[in-house]
Amino acid sequence: MKNVSKLFLACFFILAFTITGEAANKAKTIHIGVSLPTQRDERWVRDAAKIRELAKAEGDIKLSMQISDNDAAKQMSQCENLLASGIDILILAPHDATSASAIVDNAHKYGVKVISYDRLVLDADVDLYVSFDNVQVGRLQGEYLTKLVPKGRYVILGGAPTDNNAKLFKQGAMEIIQPFVDKGDIKIVMDQWITDWQPTVAMNLIQNALTANDNKIDAVLAPNDNTAGGVIQALEQVGLAGKIPVTGQDSEVTAAKRIVQGKQAMTVFKDTRLLATDAMQAAVKMVKGENPGVDTKINNNKIDVPTILVSPVIVDKNNIDAVLIDSGYLKKSEVYN
Ligand code: BGC
Repeated sequence: MKNVSKLFLACFFILAFTITGEAANKAKTIHIGVSLPTQRDERWVRDAAKIRELAKAEGDIKLSMQISDNDAAKQMSQCENLLASGIDILILAPHDATSASAIVDNAHKYGVKVISYDRLVLDADVDLYVSFDNVQVGRLQGEYLTKLVPKGRYVILGGAPTDNNAKLFKQGAMEIIQPFVDKGDIKIVMDQWITDWQPTVAMNLIQNALTANDNKIDAVLAPNDNTAGGVIQALEQVGLAGKIPVTGQDSEVTAAKRIVQGKQAMTVFKDTRLLATDAMQAAVKMVKGENPGVDTKINNNKIDVPTILVSPVIVDKNNIDAVLIDSGYLKKSEVYN
């Protein structure tokens, strides 16, 4: 072979290797799309922060995150934009469990798998569900309340009817409370859902319940900490804060403060750091075609969705330091200031 052709061949191989090398490098970066429903409840701020931290630490992850501000149509169009931008996988916490099935169908048209995050998307071929044991969250609330108040007049508040979790929390709580109702020991004087988990709606409902019952209420099942805040505000207005046990969940700073002040009975700790980690690890594995490893399957009215579940932990004034502060979830200075 003439020297010129040898040189040409050598150049060709160098070029070819450079191009395939670059392609391999490019293929290594995983583009993860995340769609969260809100940042109003502090827990979702923590989910977002942990997801960002994990993506940064990983290095070969590109992260695109959108917040839909409790608006199903906005979430739909934000997800369309994420998909059009070329994400490899979508982590989706739906605002509306049912209408979000269109987002899953759309993702699949793009060849993108969907991880249902914290909240289950119903009626859709969801690829993976990563959440807490939500029925157990409700049971913990119900058990706590019935131990404190085994007989009396209860207000039962549920979360947003558009959120499948709200139904699971209530299902778990009523598993415990209903037998007391059947025995005639507990009387339910109000049973309402809270539109979009709004604390002001919770406050108004309790104001109505107090008026209608001459302030004679003995316990309130509040579905999460933010709505518990609304409930306790209404109780404060009539001097009953701390006298009527109120439940919660999420372990928000404000709720932790109310617990140490004796205004809120309990909360449930759902470690969003673990949830975010499970979801991000699963996302990377799924993009690489690996099995994320599942704990169980949960039906979403269409299929049995492969599911990873994290356990919730009950928190009250007796274990708040050990569970929330020692684990680094909340700072002692925030809770006790
Ligand atoms: C979450 C709760 C949260 C609520 C309101 C639910 O789906 O599981 O942790 O408090 O939404 O944002």
